[in-house]
Amino acid sequence: MLPSSPSSTTSLVDPNDLDYARQYSADFVSRWDELIDWDKRALGEGHFFTDMLLHAGACRIFDASTGSGFHAAQLRKACFEVVACDGSPTMVERAKVNFDRLGLDIALYQSDWADLEFLQSQHTLGQFDAVLCLGSSLCHIFERSERIEVLRRFRSLLRPGGMLLIDQRNFQAILAGHFSSSGQYYYCGKTAKVAIGALNDSLCEFVYSFADGARYRLRVFPILPAQLRSELMAAGFSVPQSFGDFKRLYDPMRADFIIHQAIA
Ligand SMILES: C[S@@+](CC[C@H](N)C(=O)[O-])C[C@H]1O[C@@H](n2cnc3c(N)ncnc32)[C@H](O)[C@@H]1O
Repeated sequence: MLPSSPSSTTSLVDPNDLDYARQYSADFVSRWDELIDWDKRALGEGHFFTDMLLHAGACRIFDASTGSGFHAAQLRKACFEVVACDGSPTMVERAKVNFDRLGLDIALYQSDWADLEFLQSQHTLGQFDAVLCLGSSLCHIFERSERIEVLRRFRSLLRPGGMLLIDQRNFQAILAGHFSSSGQYYYCGKTAKVAIGALNDSLCEFVYSFADGARYRLRVFPILPAQLRSELMAAGFSVPQSFGDFKRLYDPMRADFIIHQAIA
């Protein structure tokens, strides 16, 4: 996505940072599951997402940033109907390998969020009970107006009253100098360490260092929890609840990830 005006946040950003697909190089993505450790991640999350979805009466789920397919696979195994999508070709390839390996029948598409309407009509996907955008994905968009536009697109995938579950790294704590990667949630692999590189109000760089010396970087926009809630509301959602590391009551300076429940 290109800068929209000379005063926009993106005009200050290195154009390479706006190209999320480039950041997920084949080499980095080949190690994504090692970084996550699916078994430990599943243990850390417990039944949080399935409980939220069941409570909302959701059956059809659209996983908008499936990455290597972790949540799509977990939910398909739990008998939800899942459509998985991601804009990165390397991630989609990895998700396909994982779904095949697990013998899971999951519709999988490569599409940028900008093209979701086209995808929906081209493949007659219909409407969904829930959309997921997990693993701190929205922060790949640096411009507020573009994030709101993407959130509107997520909303148009939902039936009235449908639910979006969206999370972010806890950038409030990170910007306040409290970065913690507990290793209990999301990135649970023991062969990689996550550290913060460049950091300011409009850029956060994560540095992933593996035990064998390999090093990769993700450069994203540090969306604050309140900022994301306001963007969700600007996109027409209500936001009844937010959670820190899957808990309703949490210390905002200690949680690794903040998860928002938004209703269309
Ligand atoms: C940090 S990864 C999270 C992947 C997965 N959800 C997980 O938790 O392991 C962020 C994902 O969002 C995807 N993504 C970022 N911006 C996107 C966009 N504009 N359109 C589609 N996918 C996008 C990336 O390709 C990447 O797979």
